[in-house]
Amino acid sequence: MKNQYELTPEQRVEYSRHLMPCFKLPGGLSLKGGEGIYLEDLDGKKYMDFTSEQFVCLLGFGNREVAEAIYEQALNMPMVAPLHQTDLRLSLYHKLANVAPPHLNRISFTLGGGMAIESAMKIALKNVPGSRNFVTLYGGYHGTTFGTADATFLSARGAEEEIANESFYRFVNHAEHHFVKTQRAYCYRCPFSKEPGKCSLECAQSLKETLQHGVSGPVAGVIIEPIQSGGGQIPLPKEYLQRVRQICDEMGILLIFDEIQTFGRTGKFFAAQYYDVEPDIIAFAKGMGSGMPVGGILIHDRLTGFENLMEDMQTFQNNHLTYAAVMKTLEIMERDHLLENGAEVGAYMTERLLEMQKRFSFIGDVRGPGLAIGVELVKDPITKKPFTEETMKKLFLWCVSQGLFFQSAHNVIKLKPPLIITMDQAKEAMDILERCFQEVV
Ligand SMILES: Cc1ncc(COP(=O)(O)O)c(C=O)c1O
Repeated sequence: MKNQYELTPEQRVEYSRHLMPCFKLPGGLSLKGGEGIYLEDLDGKKYMDFTSEQFVCLLGFGNREVAEAIYEQALNMPMVAPLHQTDLRLSLYHKLANVAPPHLNRISFTLGGGMAIESAMKIALKNVPGSRNFVTLYGGYHGTTFGTADATFLSARGAEEEIANESFYRFVNHAEHHFVKTQRAYCYRCPFSKEPGKCSLECAQSLKETLQHGVSGPVAGVIIEPIQSGGGQIPLPKEYLQRVRQICDEMGILLIFDEIQTFGRTGKFFAAQYYDVEPDIIAFAKGMGSGMPVGGILIHDRLTGFENLMEDMQTFQNNHLTYAAVMKTLEIMERDHLLENGAEVGAYMTERLLEMQKRFSFIGDVRGPGLAIGVELVKDPITKKPFTEETMKKLFLWCVSQGLFFQSAHNVIKLKPPLIITMDQAKEAMDILERCFQEVV
């Protein structure tokens, strides 16, 4: 792979003083490029990227068709102000509405996930008169903008884990909006000490009680990641989401799905389709643009949408380079049956991991669906005491040395490779992980 901007080692050291490090996790690489599902570092070592780069590059790296679509649009009109229409804009919105759940058919774009959640919040506030509160779940992650940081679990654990600067959250917590957090449906560690399939959805009941008694004033929306990612790669059960839908309907509250990480990962375009639960608003971002900055919302056709430019105007939201990339990404996903491929390869990986679980008692839980896989590691399957940060780091560094790159959420390994992954590549990755479990733990 070519490194277009190659520096000398001395320049790399000197120039790095201008960076503000933003991630405390171990193992950031110095990269030269990428191809397919592989990253290549400056020494020419290749890594299977099971993060898809912050869960974005669903088509992997170096997709020529997407690059050409962006290039053609760049030659024509990269920048179009939000007030203008073009055939590309109309075609893309039409296409997106067609692949989304039936009633979610009006769209507004942003430039990223946090901003998309903010757009969703604005729509909810517009549609639930007098409301000024939102309910989110323990472990939920919805962004780091001032509008979303308080919706996120980071605000609750920031000071303790030094992830977030406490002074930010002192500021947001004084803002006029209110986020109330409530228990999630985390079946492996059920907060109500129940077993999956043998409960009465106490988690949904607890959400209802929070809506009824735990919030001062009317609630605009419940914001939920159908599959929590940062909180530990936790798929919320279908029955739970169905019950939450009912509760929101009964109480006149909007259900907002944060699908910023779930787009394309469940074998369907949206997790709402996988779960067969229709939210009022879907916020999307990340994978839809194959690496171009993207975000936005799809809203139910019974809702009042944005009515003038100033309600949610962002200079670059009608970004035609992004639109060209999204158009081409959707086209390739359909043409190459990538949703089906993701579901199939994901099922294989889950099966391998479940098989490993029979031999390695420290694999506490294996969670899908599709290519949104979480492997929760515990010191003891009975007490479920989590693996320490140190052990997780050891596992990670060993896998990286073998050419497998992944991210973890606490004691949960997240396996979220690009949808183009082949069965052979998945097998190789599972073999590495298995050897890692044998040799390192
Ligand atoms: C579920 C979820 N919501 C919201 C966001 C925020 O998106 P962005 O980082 O594009 O603002 C993220 C980002 O990781 C996310 O995973």
